[in-house]
Amino acid sequence: MSKRWLKERRQDFYYRKAKQLNYRSRASFKLHQIDERFGIFQEGGSVVDLGAAPGGWLQIAKERVGPKGKVVGVDLQHIAPLEGVSTIRGDMTRPETVEELRSLLGGKADTVISDMSPNISGSYSMDHARSVDLCTHALEFARRTLRPGGSLVMKIFEGDMMNDFLSEVKKSFSSVRLHSPKASRSSSSEIYIVAKGFKGPAEQAAPSVSGPAGLEV
Ligand SMILES: C[S@@+](CC[C@H](N)C(=O)[O-])C[C@H]1O[C@@H](n2cnc3c(N)ncnc32)[C@H](O)[C@@H]1O
Repeated sequence: MSKRWLKERRQDFYYRKAKQLNYRSRASFKLHQIDERFGIFQEGGSVVDLGAAPGGWLQIAKERVGPKGKVVGVDLQHIAPLEGVSTIRGDMTRPETVEELRSLLGGKADTVISDMSPNISGSYSMDHARSVDLCTHALEFARRTLRPGGSLVMKIFEGDMMNDFLSEVKKSFSSVRLHSPKASRSSSSEIYIVAKGFKGPAEQAAPSVSGPAGLEV
């Protein structure tokens, strides 16, 4: 049994499991695994989900924050209603969407999560550049919206702009790690940036990167 065969079988497993548990996407398990490892959610917390359609991450976030928590999401696509979750349709690269989302949230967030993906062009470097652009918008949103101490999780497609972008993330968070959850497809160039300990909007100090889980960056 090759590693690839084992990984593909596991992927089928996540697809089937998502159907069984009524999750809207197999991506739910990626967020579940990230939270198990890094503890990004807290009961009663506020969460903003960027690129949330069809809603698999929203479902996990709502489960984790519970009835007293708040979950809001945005996507270019329509998101079918989910109990206890508020969503809007819009483009996160546009200021009016950012303002609409911030007013829907109505305060600060404990966690910002972004699974935004560009339309795949097939060109590795172009897809990477577009992914970095979406992550840059997610980072700016997080800087304006997170409470000090809050967390940011972002999907990024790997490539040569990665290190510069990570340096930018490290200016605002005390811990920054790269993580590939087991539920990610083996063929994908996606990886997740898990940034914890938001330093606050004004502080742009040098980072200190440490902790037991994930890959140090
Ligand atoms: C992989 S899907 C997200 C899956 C979701 N996490 C789930 O569990 O159901 C990526 C989403 O990013 C959205 N997206 C891409 N660019 C965006 C943008 N500029 N603003 C808002 N959403 C965007 C896409 O429409 C797509 O639905």
